Amino acid sequence: MKKRRKLKKKRILILFLFLISILILGGIEIMKKENNTSKQTNTSSKKNMEKKEEEKIKNTDKSLEKAPKNAKEFDALSDGEYLTEKGYTLTIKNKIAKIEGNIIANKTYKLPTDYQPENPYQKITTERCNNCIDKTAYEQFKLMQSDAIALGLNIYISSGYRSYQYQVNLYNKYVATSGVVGADTYSSRPGYSEHQTGLCFDLNSIDDSFKDTPEGKWVHENAYRYGFIIRFPKDSEKYTGYQYESWHLRYVGEELAKKLYQNNEYISLEEYYGITSSYE
Ligand code: DAL
Ligand code: ZN
Repeated sequence: MKKRRKLKKKRILILFLFLISILILGGIEIMKKENNTSKQTNTSSKKNMEKKEEEKIKNTDKSLEKAPKNAKEFDALSDGEYLTEKGYTLTIKNKIAKIEGNIIANKTYKLPTDYQPENPYQKITTERCNNCIDKTAYEQFKLMQSDAIALGLNIYISSGYRSYQYQVNLYNKYVATSGVVGADTYSSRPGYSEHQTGLCFDLNSIDDSFKDTPEGKWVHENAYRYGFIIRFPKDSEKYTGYQYESWHLRYVGEELAKKLYQNNEYISLEEYYGITSSYE
């Protein structure tokens, strides 16, 4: 009897040990797999970064013609690829300039007269329309606006999409009061305004007082989180060609916006990409 009980105990012990070893071995396998997956993720993000760097180097190697220095040079260029001062590829297609898929509209890069936002939130039927801006840009604005409201802040679009013809009248009005040289520091000539792209808008008072309001301060510190940049940053006239506009936001997507917000300040597209903004 005793012997049989002993044998039974032994069998149970062996079974128990067997089960324990299976559990341990299974655990080790899972850990190995997880380790491999994280290694693979690390390697693939490293590879992506290397690929990006390689592309930049390739661009600098490519015998591309240089990006234009001013509006006259841009006007003379045909569609194709050009190299910026910082090694980015500027693509011109149907006379529209893009870098990394982002439309460039400034004093060098003019938009075709009939250019309209490709994917507006609301159909364009008028020359000036605040929610006819790009759908994603508008949705991101609504998100930013509701987060602001939750903090007791009131932000609203005062000027969104503006057609070429609308800009003709606006610019002429400013020239009448400030002269050409004065107007050129704060208003775009028709065809050169980012407002025609539907990728930007002006907030609230559209003047310098905005930057000192709680809304202006919050927008400055948070716009990049929604994919926006302050398009004409402080002390950047030599790059952008325009004075500081704390109220003019441009949608570039979160990835680029995060890169352009450094040490609590925004870097202009011109400085970052190494392109000019100059009529002559
Ligand atoms: N105020 C900006 C520069 C524009 O007119 O588009
Ligand atoms: Zn504006």
